[in-house]
Amino acid sequence: MEKAILKLLKENSGHFISGEDISRGLKVSRSAIWKHIQLLRENGYEIEAQPHLGYRLLKIPDLMLADEITYNLGNKILGIKILSYASAASTNEIAYSLAEQSAPEGTLVISEEQTKGKGRLGRRWVSPAKTGVYMSIILRPKISPVEAGKITLMCSMSIAMTIRSMFGLEALIKWPNDVFIDNEKVCGILTEMNAEQDLISFIILGIGVNVNTEAEKLPEGATSLKIKLKKKVDRIEFVRNLLKDLEENYIKINSEGFASIIGQWRDLSMTLGRRIKIKWRENIIEGQAMDVDENGALIVRDDFGFSHQVLSGDVTVVR
Ligand code: BTN
Repeated sequence: MEKAILKLLKENSGHFISGEDISRGLKVSRSAIWKHIQLLRENGYEIEAQPHLGYRLLKIPDLMLADEITYNLGNKILGIKILSYASAASTNEIAYSLAEQSAPEGTLVISEEQTKGKGRLGRRWVSPAKTGVYMSIILRPKISPVEAGKITLMCSMSIAMTIRSMFGLEALIKWPNDVFIDNEKVCGILTEMNAEQDLISFIILGIGVNVNTEAEKLPEGATSLKIKLKKKVDRIEFVRNLLKDLEENYIKINSEGFASIIGQWRDLSMTLGRRIKIKWRENIIEGQAMDVDENGALIVRDDFGFSHQVLSGDVTVVR
């Protein structure tokens, strides 16, 4: 019932709707409506009530509520099922076990905080409550494990695009999966995969974005959208836009191939053309970042003129 009342309030976008109209529309008594309005208020919705005018929605809570994320979203895959948590150890871990239990492609797990947020290469991802976006999406692309890099690149590109289109900030991608603004990291992606022989069974796309995170909560070299914009960001609006961009690009690479987005990825890359040092386990390669190949691997040319195809690793820009 709360959902139906909210829908009516939203459809009246900021105008009053009378208790009588709501009760007629939803076929419940006016006193029942009052009780549901109280429940909505307890959940953080600001609703004004005026004796002769009725009710008016003033503000939705700054919480990653599933119903708010999906409201009129229009996505066909990403976010078709959403699990929203107040606290989780790691959204990637929850999504991984859901995927093992056959959760559908597009399932999104999101949490207000993570107590054991996982970063790449065994690192931690600092995930303070109600400031960042910590989410994991289950994908089931019909590709082989060597092609998994495509998905990560598509994701980092979508995030950079969303940040650019919503806020006009010059977000860039550091291969393979970090998003930077002014040389400071604003977003990290942790892709985890489950594959059988030549086919991926599922991919967990774990996305951590420093949205409203304050400087003192961030590790060195990191920034947040709020710090850059000098104002608070609507996290729900951000997630909704990101899900739309991600879905658009995911559908595009599935139907037209990875080549259809590679040009855009190159335009947003801060790695290509730079001299880099890349570390993968005990190996270090230094050279010029030339390009990414059709699987999302980075092509690095060393000082002897040899080309290396690097699928994963930690990149430092030398100059
Ligand atoms: C990185 O090291 O840059 C990757 C960070 C990925 C963090 C996200 S937050 C949501 C998801 N759940 C996790 O435990 N990690 C990813």
